[in-house]
Parts: sequence; structure tokens; C-alpha cells
Amino acid sequence: MTVYLNGQFMPIEEARIPVLDRGFIFGDGVYEVIPVYSRRAFRLAEHLKRLQHSLDGIRLQNPHGEAEWTRIINELIARNEVADQYLYLHITRGAAKRDHAFPMPPVAPTVFMMSNPLLTPPAPLLQSGVGAVSAADNRWLRCDIKAIALLPNVLLRQMAIDAGCAETILIRDGYMTEGAASNIFVVKNGRLLAPPKDNLMLPGITYDVVLEIAQADNIPHEVRKIAADEVFNADELLLTSSTKEVLAITTLDGKPVGDGKPGAMFARLHKLYQDFKRDVMRQQFPLSTGEGQGGGM
Ligand code: PDD
Repeated sequence: MTVYLNGQFMPIEEARIPVLDRGFIFGDGVYEVIPVYSRRAFRLAEHLKRLQHSLDGIRLQNPHGEAEWTRIINELIARNEVADQYLYLHITRGAAKRDHAFPMPPVAPTVFMMSNPLLTPPAPLLQSGVGAVSAADNRWLRCDIKAIALLPNVLLRQMAIDAGCAETILIRDGYMTEGAASNIFVVKNGRLLAPPKDNLMLPGITYDVVLEIAQADNIPHEVRKIAADEVFNADELLLTSSTKEVLAITTLDGKPVGDGKPGAMFARLHKLYQDFKRDVMRQQFPLSTGEGQGGGM
């Protein structure tokens, strides 16, 4: 696997960072996960915009402009074998003598990027849905920053794994925020409900796509605070993320969600998401004449 580290491409085995890197010492950095379909980065501009928001949130200067990021990302995609990839992009405040305060003068940030095969949920999982547990959201108040310091998310997600489930749905002050590594949608009486983007959740790129699709397809939807009891009495629950796309949650804390099977809203949104993905990729990169109808990605 070829990775990118501080201006150079290299096999992952050769990538080295100093032990005093502030990412290692303090978790002082931010990251992005960008899906790549048929070697094309999906919603790249939006991911780079969120990266800027995260960097601003931790007061770290963006080491590259959009054109340079695009060049590096496309080269990394080209240097890796598979067509569908997920890119992990990670920036820390660099290596310096251990001190909580920012290094002064600033040191060069550490910029790391790797690509892994993108394994979206297989058909059996789409058909069965996944289990979730609920837990109190005990994270900090800047969950809108995609910080590499993920210890609370790690522990919360492990609660789900320990219970034989896939995700933990987080509740703060009586309202649902998101999942430990995904955004959560509630479906009630044919309406899609989404919590508002604020400091208590990560503004998901997939979340935005799902709301755009709902709007375009006239699916009744509402963005508003969602009380915990609405989650526990939902007809359907959905999770979204760049790697899971749209997935049905069919049990919560061991009880069935609705009738315990992926519902009509899931089926509709999943199909529309796949269509959207394909259409967007085609718009950005028109099919060559040889590909014809139904070809391409
Ligand atoms: N996580 N909320 C949290 C806490 C997340 O970690 C993620 C994604 C999302 C969904 O965001 P997006 O749709 O932009 O992927 C919401 C990534 C996939 C990860 O950490 O691996």
C-alpha cells in the first residue's frame, strides 16, 4: 500500500513519524475520511471544506490550498490498486518538545494520507440491517470538529461491539446527537427526521447527501432536535457515513426497531443514494463515448 507523508509517497512500511508528534502525544490533530468510487473522490470539495472547518476549530493553518490537496489526493488514488477506495487524511500540529501550549514558533504540521479498499456493506447486511445500543453522549462540546482524539468514540463504539451490535446511538440532555462513528436519522409515520447540524455532532457529508436526495425526491423530512423517546419509538432508524453509506438499524438495545426489518424509507433512500452516487460521478466526469448507457461506474 502506498501512503503519503509530508510531501512524499512511499510504501506504508517506510512511513515514520517522530514519537514527539503532537498527534501521538496529545491527539492534537484533525482528519477526514473520503470515499473514492471508480478512482474518483466523492464530494471532494465538501470534504475539503469540512477539513478547513476542523483546522479552524483547532487553530491550525491549512498546509495546502484546494488545488494542491486535489493533486495529492488524485496521485494517491492513482498509486493504489483498487478502484473503490477510502482515503484517510490526517493532519497534526507536528513534532515538538512536550508542552500543552502550541509550539512557538509553529513547527511544520504532519500530513499523512492513506488509501484502503472501500468495502461498503454487503448485500446480506443491507437486507438484515444492523443492531445498535444507546448510551449517554459523554464527548466534549466541539463534536463538529473531526478531531483525531477519538477516545470517547472508541469506548462508545466498543459498547456496541461488546453487545454484538454495529453502532452506539448517543443521547445528550434528552436528545439524540449521532452515532459513535455515523450520523443517525429517525423515520416516523413516513417522515424522515434529522438532528440539526450544531456543535454536538459531526456535520456528515453523507448526511447532507441524504437530505439533498430527500428534498429532490419529495420525501417528507424535517431537520430538528430529536428527543430520545422518538428514537426508542421510531418506525425506522438509519445510520449514514462515508464508508457505510446508508444502513438500516433494526434493533436498539436488543428490541426490534419497528417490525425489526429494514423499512421502506431505507429501501428508497439506499436506492436513491446509489443512483445519486452514479449520477454525480458521471456529471463530474462525463462518460466517454465507449462506455455507453449503463456502463461506467
Ligand atoms: N466517521 N459522526 C461521526 C462521529 C463520525 O465519525 C462519522 C464518520 C460521521 C459521518 O460523517 P461522513 O458522512 O462525513 O462520513 C458522523 C468516519 C467514516 C470515520 O471516522 O471512519
